[in-house]
Amino acid sequence: MSQHTPQKRTTAPDIRARKGGAPIVALTSYHAHTAAIADKHVDFLLVGDSLGMVMHGFESTLPVPLDLMIMHGRAVMRGARKSLVVVDMPFGSYEESPAQAFRNAARVVKETECGAIKLEGGKRMAETIRFLTERGIPVMAHVGLTPQSINVLGAFKAQGRKVEEWAAIEEDARVVAEAGAFSVVLEAIAEPLAAKITKQVSIPTIGIGASASCDGQILVMEDMLGLSPRVARFVKEFGKIGEAIDRAIGMYAEDVRTRAFPGPDNTYGVKE
Ligand code: KIV
Repeated sequence: MSQHTPQKRTTAPDIRARKGGAPIVALTSYHAHTAAIADKHVDFLLVGDSLGMVMHGFESTLPVPLDLMIMHGRAVMRGARKSLVVVDMPFGSYEESPAQAFRNAARVVKETECGAIKLEGGKRMAETIRFLTERGIPVMAHVGLTPQSINVLGAFKAQGRKVEEWAAIEEDARVVAEAGAFSVVLEAIAEPLAAKITKQVSIPTIGIGASASCDGQILVMEDMLGLSPRVARFVKEFGKIGEAIDRAIGMYAEDVRTRAFPGPDNTYGVKE
């Protein structure tokens, strides 16, 4: 019988306690195999609603249903053994009221067994963040560029590039921390503002396009692997996986067409 040594999984309070310490490393993940690979290297994995665009080809994150988040959340939980897994609440599943948010977030936690949820919004979500936290659901907040508001914003663009915009974003970050969020994603925020917020708030800031001043960093895994057709300026491609896939599939197609594949090593003979 195989021995399974249980490994302690990182918790939301563990991440909360990393404020001002060694940088927190995070990536998005949507499926079991990549979660298992990333698990060795990261502190938490986010099952982001970006999966709607990255995996399912939607033009925005808005069409993503809750059931899809739960399905991918379960896959990532099966792949990752030690990292905290955070699941995004999709558009329409939490904004109406704290009660709606609790009902849906509780489904996410029960059905995926993830350790926390993430939701977008600052001051306007403070009451909901408090409601969920007080009822046992750790919340990661998300301020700055909030992709679920794309139809109001008009475009995915950096926030806080004008000093006049700073006060509202600072207030959003401060209020979500006071409401009990254990960390806050700062997306596409000008460096000096991200640095100022990181100094001001008591919880870790997780930057995506928000400079190295943040307490941690997150990227969409497919973007940093070089698998996404277009990436934002803030993405660094650490791999060229898209090109490697293209090459490998080209070789496979060629081998099939020339009958070089399957060869003897890939073929069953008859047992004597
Ligand atoms: O959905 C997502 O992938 C995210 C990250 C960009 C933080 O929210």
